[in-house]
Amino acid sequence: MPPLPTVVVTGGAGFIGSHTVDRLMETGHRVVVLDNFSTGKRSNLARWAGDPALDIVTCDITNGIFAALAPLTKLHGPVERIVHLAAQVSVVHSVANPHVDMTVNYGGTLHVLEYARAHHVKKVVFASSAAVYGDVTQLPVAEETACQPVSPYGIDKLASELALDYYANVHGVPTTALRFFNVFGPRQDPSSPYSGVISIFTDRARAGKPLTIFGDGSQTRDFVFVGDVVRGIVAALGDGNSRMIANVGTGNEISVGELARTIVDLCGGKSTLEHAPPRAGEILKSRARVDRLRDALGVVAQTSLVDGLRATLA
Ligand code: NAD
Ligand code: UD1
Repeated sequence: MPPLPTVVVTGGAGFIGSHTVDRLMETGHRVVVLDNFSTGKRSNLARWAGDPALDIVTCDITNGIFAALAPLTKLHGPVERIVHLAAQVSVVHSVANPHVDMTVNYGGTLHVLEYARAHHVKKVVFASSAAVYGDVTQLPVAEETACQPVSPYGIDKLASELALDYYANVHGVPTTALRFFNVFGPRQDPSSPYSGVISIFTDRARAGKPLTIFGDGSQTRDFVFVGDVVRGIVAALGDGNSRMIANVGTGNEISVGELARTIVDLCGGKSTLEHAPPRAGEILKSRARVDRLRDALGVVAQTSLVDGLRATLA
């Protein structure tokens, strides 16, 4: 039998990463997870315990990925494709710690691209973000919109996109950057104040605790279910579409206030809503234009917000 194609997933023990690993394993790939377990968990990958097609390697991407992958490629052959998800994921954390964000998010991307260049990797798919746009005047926001990020996180994601383009253009590394909007779903960890809002709100509403809304709650986000995001990632891993940048969202937006009320209702209405001052570095409105992902890769988000919330609560 020919060897299985090897896909490396950086950040594969995290929320989006573990769902990506599930899909790749289900479709017959060999998968190598590189993760430092700062927010990711081994339990997210527990269903594959003992499966010889999955290797989980503790690796901090700020130290590079050559040493972590060398023993495995010796055994199983070259890495064919890379999904690069490992990152510091909080906008607010990046405002307080800009150097950490740059080292992990921009520096980590450079390490991944250096490996891809040296080993002739056939595709690098990078998790970029809607945060690259900053505060835009026109919604839905299309990929051509001038990027003016308002946080170190957005700056480092944009810098990473530029690095992808440079490696594709100058070194011939095929790359695709996906600008995820606000991803939610099962396994999103609610345990930190920096966690995604839906993970925090569902966790607290289930326990009947108050929900805190930063600002007046009129800020909007385009919440996309993790299963739809994974379909985008897997489609982008294929050949073609190099140097493409595409939004991954639904094309819909909801205010944080309305989101809070929806979640409280779904959980039986026990929680109260409280307000706290708005957080620095955050954007006000966000909604993706989604034509490019549909036209280039045939991927359209299919899960409604309420269905996704039910799946998350279940
Ligand atoms: P997550 O925190 O669950 O996943 C990040 C993973 O990266 C974790 O497993 C963590 O342990 C790992 N990691 C962090 N620093 C590392 C390091 N130095 N070395 C190795 N591994 C490290 O978050 P997520 O929501 O799954 O995010 C995945 C990617 O998607 C990130 O790049 C994030 O910026 C991007 N993204 C997420 C969203 C969202 O709404 N969740 C939206 C846009 C972009
Ligand atoms: C999120 C992602 C980021 C991604 C970006 C893309 C996380 C932690 N962050 O950032 O990686 O690049 O989407 O758009 O996954 N809020 C409250 N109460 C809370 C928590 C949050 O009101 O308890 C509000 C925030 O002030 C913000 C909104 O909810 O206005 C969303 O916050 P958050 O989930 O942290 O996401 P983003 O900052 O949009």
